Order: sequence, then C-alpha cells, then structure tokens
Amino acid sequence: MEISARHKRSFSFLVALLFWYFNEAWSWTHAKETPQVRVPCFFIFGDSLVDNGNNNDILTLARANYQPYGVDFPQGPTGRFSNGRTVVDVLAQLVGFSTYIPPHSETSRRSVIAGANFASGAAGIRDETGNNLGAHIPMNQQLSNFEGILPEIRRYLGGDMKAVENHLSKCIFYSGMGSNDYLNNYFMTNYYTTSSQFTPTAYANALLQDYSRQLAFLYQLGGRKVIVAGVGQIGCIPYELARYNSTDQSRCNEDKNNAVNLFNSGLRQLVDVFNHNNAQFPGAKFVYLDSYLSSRDLYSKPKTYGFDVVDKACCGVGKNNGQITCLPFQEPCENRSKYLFWDAFHPTEIANVLLAKKAFTTKNKSYAYPINIQQLATL
Ligand SMILES: *[C@@H]1O[C@H](CO)[C@@H](O)[C@H](O)[C@H]1NC(C)=O
Ligand SMILES: *[C@@H]1O[C@H](CO)[C@@H](O)[C@H](O)[C@H]1NC(C)=O
Ligand SMILES: *[C@@H]1O[C@H](CO)[C@@H](O)[C@H](O)[C@H]1NC(C)=O
Repeated sequence: MEISARHKRSFSFLVALLFWYFNEAWSWTHAKETPQVRVPCFFIFGDSLVDNGNNNDILTLARANYQPYGVDFPQGPTGRFSNGRTVVDVLAQLVGFSTYIPPHSETSRRSVIAGANFASGAAGIRDETGNNLGAHIPMNQQLSNFEGILPEIRRYLGGDMKAVENHLSKCIFYSGMGSNDYLNNYFMTNYYTTSSQFTPTAYANALLQDYSRQLAFLYQLGGRKVIVAGVGQIGCIPYELARYNSTDQSRCNEDKNNAVNLFNSGLRQLVDVFNHNNAQFPGAKFVYLDSYLSSRDLYSKPKTYGFDVVDKACCGVGKNNGQITCLPFQEPCENRSKYLFWDAFHPTEIANVLLAKKAFTTKNKSYAYPINIQQLATL
C-alpha cells in the first residue's frame, strides 16, 4: 500500500517535471520564432473544426474523444476532431501562448482570464443546424456562455466593467461558423426544409443576417479584435466526394462550392461594415480569413505541400474513407503528413498547421483581409 502510494507520488512528480520541461522548451523555441507577439487572451467560437472537448459530455454523434482521434496529440484523444492540433491550437502558439486555450466545459476548474474555447461540433449559426447528429451548442448559446464568464473575469481583475472592457479589447476572438449550416442543414435535404425554402443566394443572405447580429453582440460584449473564418471548400471534402455520383473519385461538387462562396463573399463584406462603421462599432478590428482559398490551394497543389492523398481521408469507412468518420480504435493511415484529410470532414494536423501559418503571415489580402493575424495581434 505505502510503496504504491510513494510510487504514485514520485510518478506525479516526474509527470509534473516533464510537463514543466516541455512547456519551457516550447515557450523558448516559440519565443525565438515570434519575439514581439504576446496576446494576453484568446476566445474561440465555432464548430468541430475548432472544438477541443466541449461535446465530450453531450449526447451527440459529433464526438471525437476516442482513439484514433488525437493519435498525434500529446494528451491523446481530447475531443479534437483531428489527429493532432486544430487550426486555433496552432494560432494560439503563433500569438505567443505556451498552453492551449481550455474548453469552456472545463473552465470551472481553470481560469478564463487568458481565454476559453466555446466551440461545439455540429454547431452552426442557426440553432437547428446539427440537430440530425444530436445535441450541440449553437452560436447563440456559445455567445451566452461567453457572457456568462464575464463576471468571473471582472472578479479576477478586481475592477469594474471598464477594467473588463479594457482587458477584452486586447484579446483575440476567433469565430469559425457556417460549415454545418450547409453540411448539416441546407445540403441535408432529407432532414431539413431550408433547401426548399431558400435559393442558395437567399440562404447565404439569411445566414449573414443572423451572423451579423451575433457578431454585433460579440462586439457589444467586448470583442474588438475579431477573426471570422469563412467556409472551406466543402464540395471537395471526402464526405462529399463519396456522395457525389461520379466515377472520378476526386471530382468536387461545384454546386456546393458555389453555394458556400455566396456566404463567404458576403462575410468578407461584413468585415468592412464592422471596420468602417465608426459610429456604431468604434475600435472594431475585424479580419476575414478566406478558408475557401487556402483549402483550395492545399487540394489543388498537393505536391507543393507534401501531400500524396487529398481526396481520401486517413481514416473512415467506404468510398474515399468518406462515408462516416473514424470508428473507435480504427487503425488510421500510417503517415498522416501525406494526407490532407484526417477523416471525412476534418483536416489533418499538418494541414491545420499550414492553414494557421498562412493566416498568420500572408501578405495577400485574398487570404486574410484587411490584415493578417500577426498584424492583428501586434495592433
Ligand atoms: C448515377 O450515375 C449513374 C450513371 O451515370 C446513373 O445511372 C444513376 O441514375 C445516377 N444516380 C443518381 C442518384 O443520380
Ligand atoms: C511522412 O511523410 C512526410 C511528408 O511527405 C515525410 O517527410 C516523412 O518522411 C514521412 N514519414 C515516414 C515515417 O514515412
Ligand atoms: C493573391 O492570391 C490570389 C489567390 O491565390 C492570387 O490569384 C493572386 O495573384 C495573389 N496576389 C498576389 C499579389 O500575389
């Protein structure tokens, strides 16, 4: 009994030591890469592309807290829908964090002063989006959850609401929404009626109307430096390739790509509305990320990025490994660095690293508009 307790203690000590060492090594190498950037806080809203565990205790099929998810992540499966880091994990590192932003579901145990991740797999701009998969936390609720932690930030700062405002004005906010409003709503015609109610243009406009109200609420709650990511090239994900009636297994569904681009171009214009309307949104610094263009680059120029396979997921079932997501304990493909897609819907860690680095450093306004994330972070 006593021996095993002592062993346990020394084991915990070793783990703590390793953890400390790992953190130090990481912050050190990291500091060398980006000496000036030091963002004090980072808040995240979105769907499964950036969820890091908020769905773990929710009754839904949109869950990823089992093997082989997280196979390349130090903590194993955490609920991240990838083999390793998500795009916001990499962005957090690039803007100077030495630890990952915790999921909101865990914040009762951890401080929120440096940020929290509210994202939820299957979630969308519209509340009903994702109902086909079960429960989830839609954007409206993610924003209420953020509102719910403001008193804690205020207590921590020991000040008034002005102190909270001042703190939040230095934070980076990331919102990646819209993919499920297409995949798990508009395109899912046997479950949802939106495709018979709206033309693609009318649907994009309806989403943008809701989203602009949600982003205005985020501004009202204190968000000033806000990144909004557009929807990626979802007509080319393994899930769509598998469903597309074509003998060419890599032929994208261009109707679906065109539909999401109606949303994307409106979102880019929305950024101008926030940035240029000084009377209504003073101090707003919104940045649009064109996830469509950056994912298209990876898909159409695979060799440039070291990919051998872009039309088939690293794990999954059926045509293109795209019919369903990775099964529990399924053996994934051997070399994840050669695959663009981890499962039917989600990029591999290496793809997330490429996407984040592009967003951070690009000088081309087609990818990050009107400035890149490094510029946003140093403002
Ligand atoms: C798929 O394509 C085949 C051959 O072109 C055609 O016979 C079949 O009806 C198509 N199925 C659907 C669902 O469009
Ligand atoms: C995996 O693929 C990457 C990128 O093509 C390559 O650099 C690496 O050597 C490969 N690793 C193994 C173990 O094959
Ligand atoms: C910016 O990126 C777009 C899309 O890839 C490309 O067409 C354009 O030539 C680029 N502009 C510059 C100045 O590199």
